[in-house]
Amino acid sequence: MQPSSFQSLTPDDCQRTDEWLGLEINRIELDLLKVAQTTLPTGDVSSWGKSMHDAQSWVGLHPQTLLTPYQELSWMCECVKDQSGHVVDLGAGYGRLGMVMQQKLPKAFYTGVEIVRERVDEGNRIFGLLGSEKARLIAADLATTSYELPMGDCYFIYDYGTLDHIRWTMGQLQNLSDIHRFQIVARGAGIRSLIDMAHPWLHKIENPYEEYFSLYQTHLTYS
Ligand SMILES: C[S@@+](CC[C@H](N)C(=O)[O-])C[C@H]1O[C@@H](n2cnc3c(N)ncnc32)[C@H](O)[C@@H]1O
Repeated sequence: MQPSSFQSLTPDDCQRTDEWLGLEINRIELDLLKVAQTTLPTGDVSSWGKSMHDAQSWVGLHPQTLLTPYQELSWMCECVKDQSGHVVDLGAGYGRLGMVMQQKLPKAFYTGVEIVRERVDEGNRIFGLLGSEKARLIAADLATTSYELPMGDCYFIYDYGTLDHIRWTMGQLQNLSDIHRFQIVARGAGIRSLIDMAHPWLHKIENPYEEYFSLYQTHLTYS
């Protein structure tokens, strides 16, 4: 892989990196939008996801707003403590984080959980082409009560769905923290303020990229 390829921060640069990887995000998002407009002609981004996936799947949002820029994902990788651990991406989209990890954290494992099957299939297609044996996307609804979160050493959450769903996931993470220590990388105003206001069991860790994302860990000492 070209070292410079994951330094894309602007939407245009990110789109070029998608194309370089072979990710057909624009086509897939457009197809999802067409289905949404046919099923719910008067809908919009706030209602299409609910009608198609019974969740906030952000159908209709511009792909480069839906997804975290590659450069930020690359910075996140620099903040992961356990470089051979398991990174779990909650609401993973196309699994771009796993693609960046192939270069930045080659010893680590990646699991992305995503509700939209088309995004999962496309991300897994690219992992196959890249020969990424340690990365995979799983199609699942994080908000189902029967769904058990994978055990991870680092969780990434970017305001993935409705506030209720994110609250539910945070409760599950709190339960997991009784038996396992981990980091959380949080991107987006919703999840960051939720953690700061309602999750004192998490310790905020200084990070040079605070403008973009916040970093938390379950225990103050981390060996
Ligand atoms: C804002 S996007 C972030 C994608 C990726 N993590 C990134 O930062 O590039 C949030 C993703 O979460 C997914 N999502 C929303 N609700 C979900 C749920 N209940 N279970 C699983 N995935 C969900 C959406 O379909 C969407 O692809």
